[in-house]
Amino acid sequence: MSGDIRALLNLDRLLGDIRTLAGFGAVEAGGIDRPAFSPAIVDAEEWLMQAMRQAGMTARRDGAGNIMGRLGPQTGRTLICGSHIDTVRGGGSLDGTLGVLAGLECARAIAASGLQPSAGFEVVAFADEEGAYHGLLGSKAMAGALEPDDIQDSGALAMAMLAVGLDFSAVSKAARKLDEVEAYLELHIEQGPVLERLGLDIGIVDAIVGMDLSSYTLTGKARHSGSTPMADRQDALVCAASAIHSAIAAMVEEGLADAGTMTFGNLRVSPGSTNVVPGQVIVDSEVRAPNRETIAALRSIVDRAFQNAAGQAGLTTVRGRNVIDPPAPLSKGLRDRLFAIAAKNNLQCELLSSGACHDAQVFASRDVPTAMIFIESKGGISHHSDEHSTPAAIRAGAEFLLLAVHDLLVRGTR
Ligand code: GLV
Ligand code: MN
Ligand code: MN
Repeated sequence: MSGDIRALLNLDRLLGDIRTLAGFGAVEAGGIDRPAFSPAIVDAEEWLMQAMRQAGMTARRDGAGNIMGRLGPQTGRTLICGSHIDTVRGGGSLDGTLGVLAGLECARAIAASGLQPSAGFEVVAFADEEGAYHGLLGSKAMAGALEPDDIQDSGALAMAMLAVGLDFSAVSKAARKLDEVEAYLELHIEQGPVLERLGLDIGIVDAIVGMDLSSYTLTGKARHSGSTPMADRQDALVCAASAIHSAIAAMVEEGLADAGTMTFGNLRVSPGSTNVVPGQVIVDSEVRAPNRETIAALRSIVDRAFQNAAGQAGLTTVRGRNVIDPPAPLSKGLRDRLFAIAAKNNLQCELLSSGACHDAQVFASRDVPTAMIFIESKGGISHHSDEHSTPAAIRAGAEFLLLAVHDLLVRGTR
């Protein structure tokens, strides 16, 4: 094809696909519940594989539950365009899904252009990016980046996989030869306010923050709530509340409020009734920051807050093993290439960082040339049913992705 490849991109078809996929796992209260290895996502994945085949791709599911559609040569050098179609509870219709469906739309356009690329073009929907069981599971499995310890506590994951007909022992078989992956591209909504404030539809990502995820178990004494005087209690929930409050206050006091983020959630309170003083609470804690030093500083603030709160109230606290995803700078060479493509096509875009985790960081940290394109998120809202990007921003992002895919397939990556 000699004209502009963007003429082959069908925005209405892409928007229609986004609406269709939003129906899988839609909940009455609003939003989408489509966690990894749930019946809703398996139905969505079947639909996706069907759509991939209709687009002229081969489609399959690997041992980790990743869904892959491939165009062109079936083995050897590969350009991957990936993201995820699992959602958080009550999530929106674009987080992850946009990248996968825009990749699919690019595959349709490439097929329609008649281009016979020498490298395969793959669109991948990675399993469990959102961490229902293990965050970034599918991309880590494909990149051979899963430490045996990472999935050692795998009972819940193995059971969830079994329930949808998948075999946990096959996860490690998803590892691919990374030297055949020429480049990894991911289009995603920004999930933050920067592009909207700049009045831009699209951005190019320089780096993805790192994250440390840990859990703290506080153990006090479960006692009758009516007959145990307030002064005699070792209430694990009150202690957790105090520790969380002190950790956030210390982050501000130590001047780190703008250096990263600190979030607590998923409290498991036992025995979990109001007629027994809570005897034990498990709290999940994540800290994120653009560099390892700040991640370590934030983790130590949380450690101290839990130790102090427990010590003062006569409880014990134990931190479980932490999973650390290091900060991931993305490829400068590929980023420059994207800026050059943008300039050639009169597209205005800015460099920005990602505070959210993405499958892209796994490939970047394994030295695969990796780039991410962001589109504007209205109000910076994500992980919520109000997540929204305009059709104009979706068009701009998908067209930019198509220009990049086409350029990489025609001219190679080096
Ligand atoms: C994934 O969306 C994350 O950033 O947690
Ligand atoms: Mn997400
Ligand atoms: Mn995402």
